[in-house]
Amino acid sequence: MGKMKIGVIGTGSISDIHLSSYAQNEHAEIYAICDLNKERAQKTADNYGATFVYTDYKELLGNEEIDAVSICTWNNTHAKISIAALEAGKHVLCEKPLAKTVEEAEQIEKAVKQSGKILQVGFVRRYTNNINLLKQFIDHGDLGEIYYAKASCLRRLGNPGGWFADKDRSGGGPLIDIGVHVIDLCWYLMGRPKVKSISGNTYEKLGNRSNVKNLDFYKAADYNPYQNNVEDMANALIRFENGASLLVDVSFTLHAKEDEISVKLYGDKGGAEIEPELLIVSEKHNTILNVTPQIDSLSSDINQAFQNEINSFINCIQNEKEVVSPVEDGVEMMKILCGIYESSETGKEIYF
Ligand SMILES: NC(=O)c1ccc[n+]([C@@H]2O[C@H](COP(=O)([O-])OP(=O)(O)OC[C@H]3O[C@@H](n4cnc5c(N)ncnc54)[C@H](O)[C@@H]3O)[C@@H](O)[C@H]2O)c1
Repeated sequence: MGKMKIGVIGTGSISDIHLSSYAQNEHAEIYAICDLNKERAQKTADNYGATFVYTDYKELLGNEEIDAVSICTWNNTHAKISIAALEAGKHVLCEKPLAKTVEEAEQIEKAVKQSGKILQVGFVRRYTNNINLLKQFIDHGDLGEIYYAKASCLRRLGNPGGWFADKDRSGGGPLIDIGVHVIDLCWYLMGRPKVKSISGNTYEKLGNRSNVKNLDFYKAADYNPYQNNVEDMANALIRFENGASLLVDVSFTLHAKEDEISVKLYGDKGGAEIEPELLIVSEKHNTILNVTPQIDSLSSDINQAFQNEINSFINCIQNEKEVVSPVEDGVEMMKILCGIYESSETGKEIYF
């Protein structure tokens, strides 16, 4: 089988890790690049030896040689580019979040069904080696029924600015940007239960704190310290139809002592900590055991996760395998994220 010809749309901060992962995959060829910013697109094409460079994604999609695309653009463009790509007969790897709204996400889902092409949502954390390992324990029943999960992803300083801080283009702040990862991870490992109700709060108290010096953080390619209209903190309690619940809090900035990432699952036979390090908790012979798997790295290796994500995308296309993070899950995640925003706005619990 020949190499898949890949187009990458959006060549800002995250695209590099998509590109380096495609470059490492022997079944993929980086064929075309597109960015609104011509210089940025050209530089990326030169770095990765791409044949074609575009500033209009429609022109890239018109190139019939291209088999599949990675969409690494602003969140408000994910729906229109994904749908156009599917209609042009391309397979799609779309960065998270799938869209800005549930309606957009459902339109993408419809386009996937009509086109018969693959769409993989960039829930990259599902692809870490540690999650693959933990999933085996969960699938074998080692945690039993997972009835509670708790996730925190708190940055004391880390509003990426640019479009991330512009609600029209991003859809929101830390909830839709980083909350999406940890909520998805818990939901996926809990067995994707149907959401029943959501109670959420968002806060705009601290701004982006661009005044703070001496601390570095992830920034959009076009960082602008003067623009920001997204929440700086969000929390939520999500109830599922099977009785399970998920408690989550996330921030771009907070008066916290340090950044915190913590993801924990609790079942009736055992528990697990994913972040900051993998640990499995169980009970045997009336004794509680904290089990540390003997593996190369107990923390998440994000570079490896992106490589696994890209490898999985190519493998699904070439060998018609089931997608690990399919479009339906992207739609469900939009229901949860938008439900949290709606609950916060109305001050009420949202029922599905
Ligand atoms: N999976 C992860 O861990 C992860 C991490 C960071 C960002 N992301 C996601 O990746 C996407 C991009 O984020 P980023 O940090 O690279 O942002 P960025 O601002 O650094 O880069 C975005 C690029 O997209 C280009 N662009 C925007 N609209 C376009 C269009 N219509 N056509 C062509 N190019 C267009 C911009 O010019 C820019 O170069 C976002 O959806 C973000 O949520 C995912």
